[in-house]
Amino acid sequence: MSILFRSTPEQGILWKDVFADLMPDMPFHIWPETGPLDEIEYILAWIMPDLNLDDLPRLKGVFSIGAGANQFNLNVIPEHVPLVRLVDPNTAQAVADYVAMAALALHRDLPHYIRRNLEGKWDPQPLRANSDRRIGIMGLGEMGRAAAERLAYFGFQLSGWSRRSKFVPGMKTYAGDQGLADFLATSDILVCLLPLTEQTRGILNETLFSRLPAGASLIQVGRGEHLDNDALLAALESGQIDTAFLDVTVPEPLPGDHPFWSHPRIVVTPHIAALTRRESAAKIIADNIQRIEDGEPPLGTVDRSVGY
Ligand code: NDP
Ligand code: OXD
Repeated sequence: MSILFRSTPEQGILWKDVFADLMPDMPFHIWPETGPLDEIEYILAWIMPDLNLDDLPRLKGVFSIGAGANQFNLNVIPEHVPLVRLVDPNTAQAVADYVAMAALALHRDLPHYIRRNLEGKWDPQPLRANSDRRIGIMGLGEMGRAAAERLAYFGFQLSGWSRRSKFVPGMKTYAGDQGLADFLATSDILVCLLPLTEQTRGILNETLFSRLPAGASLIQVGRGEHLDNDALLAALESGQIDTAFLDVTVPEPLPGDHPFWSHPRIVVTPHIAALTRRESAAKIIADNIQRIEDGEPPLGTVDRSVGY
């Protein structure tokens, strides 16, 4: 039996060290070195190695080393092999910090003051009470709930939207297509923490923006493919959207001449809302491998019927 790891070669060496402590008897191969293909039982990767999985008869699990797993093609992973995403509270806390940072910056007009700094202009803005600011979170999973918990501390009015209806203390919740318009109508700041699926691809588009209160802002932490780039630029131009924080984009990395970089009302960060923390992530994956070995389902298995 063996593990095949694919990320950067530098990460490979570091992960191999951690696994040497966690699973000393398990051979650990760093892509493109694979060892005998018929000995690979587990693949750990951000992006799937270019392999024909028919050549891996002992494969028992594919693990994403990130929270999202949309970068894997489920059609090429045999039905009996679980695709497992990383469910790590450290990732959720980092995302919650990022969302709180961006929400406070928007709420307290920081992008406006940075622009005024550059002009040397003293231009105070009215201060809105936290309890008057409505923040809507799309996606109430591990990330969305952690972000909500952090934002609740500041006393914002919170609402959330998910596929199935949910009860989340301290927030008004909406579900499904039928709940989307009402949810959007009360979101002064919209946070996207959805997974990328066929249902959510391109969801941040002209129609959605038109349903937000005029002058709403966006915090986009999901996946670049959720956003229609041209629709965002048009909504910023018309004032329908005031400001956008974008942690994820299409493409990544965003080329230096992309209009998002120089736009005065867009803040781009290079997909850093959370960075996988090796030590905790490796332990979570090793525990999940043990669950598979014990005949139990791994935690964080992607539901093939919905794609997340
Ligand atoms: P989860 O699977 O735990 O939660 C996903 C949430 O989205 C659920 O509440 C789900 O609804 C909801 N959802 C899915 N599809 C739909 C839909 N069609 N309509 C409405 N709601 C929907 O995922 P996580 O919270 O762990 O992660 C979410 C995403 O955040 C990741 O997939 C990744 O893209 C992104 N991410 C980005 C990071 C960054 O650094 N920028 C870091 C980590 C994650 P329901 O509850 O009903 O199932
Ligand atoms: C993740 C990410 O999915 O960093 O973990 O985007």
